[in-house]
Amino acid sequence: MNPPVIRPRRLRTTPAMRRLVAETRIHPAQLILPLFVREGITEPAPIGSMPGVVQHTFDSLKKAVQDAAAAGLGGVMLFGIPATRDAVGSAATQASGILNRATEVAVAEAGAALVVQTDLCLDEFTDHGHCGVLDAHGRVDNDATLERYREMAVAQAQAGSQLLGLSGMMDGQVAAVRDALDAAGFADTAILAYAAKYASAFYGPFREAVDSQLRGDRRTYQQDPANRIEGRREAALDEAEGADVLMVKPAMSYLDVLADVAAAARVPVWAYQVSGEYAMIEAAAANGWIDRDRAIRESVTGILRAGAGAVLTYWALQLASSGRAQS
Ligand code: PBG
Repeated sequence: MNPPVIRPRRLRTTPAMRRLVAETRIHPAQLILPLFVREGITEPAPIGSMPGVVQHTFDSLKKAVQDAAAAGLGGVMLFGIPATRDAVGSAATQASGILNRATEVAVAEAGAALVVQTDLCLDEFTDHGHCGVLDAHGRVDNDATLERYREMAVAQAQAGSQLLGLSGMMDGQVAAVRDALDAAGFADTAILAYAAKYASAFYGPFREAVDSQLRGDRRTYQQDPANRIEGRREAALDEAEGADVLMVKPAMSYLDVLADVAAAARVPVWAYQVSGEYAMIEAAAANGWIDRDRAIRESVTGILRAGAGAVLTYWALQLASSGRAQS
């Protein structure tokens, strides 16, 4: 007699059965929508390499934040594109700077319904495009940059940001920002540490989105894609420095790092499905090469399955408002 066939297919027989046994669901509350706000424009400006994504005016930002709240999203992550830049990224720390003004607008619009988050990094504001200030040799100066991050953190907290996204990959940035926030009376302002952030080709479209001035690369501060142990180390350091949430970025090519960090962390762990991940699926779908909706859902499901508690994704609104997030 042959041994009986073990039949896992029983749990795949009907849509209702498959829905019931699904281990991972996409819920709007765990989706965060990144938004770009550009100084000095009067109409939303499309981003060529990110079809469907725009640089917002204040008016269109208001509408986007309202839509995000109505869709039940967990939050929005704001990026500012200033009209003028300089070596130290002055606009990043001015209350009148584009990102700080946009934060005020977003908080006024929906600060109680979702979590308004801000990118805390200098690259959008510097004329050389690096995430920090440069020393006399043109290298990114870690500790001088921490001083700028401290000021930027206080400016963002004053503008009302509820969660500061530290994406610059400077050593000691979480501890420095925590200290500055506490000293300025912002003990309740939380820190999202882009703990394991890799020097990735998949940020390509984002550089267009923020009109990046960068020449060269960020490999002296962002991580080498080859390194998994280092991802765990960076995450552990940021947690020890007081990060409230850890993030792994990009998502799709770093799901092993995400799973490692999620297993070890004692704080929430999120992932950023970055611009290049978005652009690849949109481009393939536009060519008729893949089913867009299914590819979007599969990519975000994979990120959640790997251990992310929430995902930053440019498809957040579509996923939530199509009702597909619930299924
Ligand atoms: C740095 C920052 C970047 C992204 C988010 N924050 C760019 C970079 O590190 O070069 C990329 C996000 C994306 O590609 O969607 N301010």
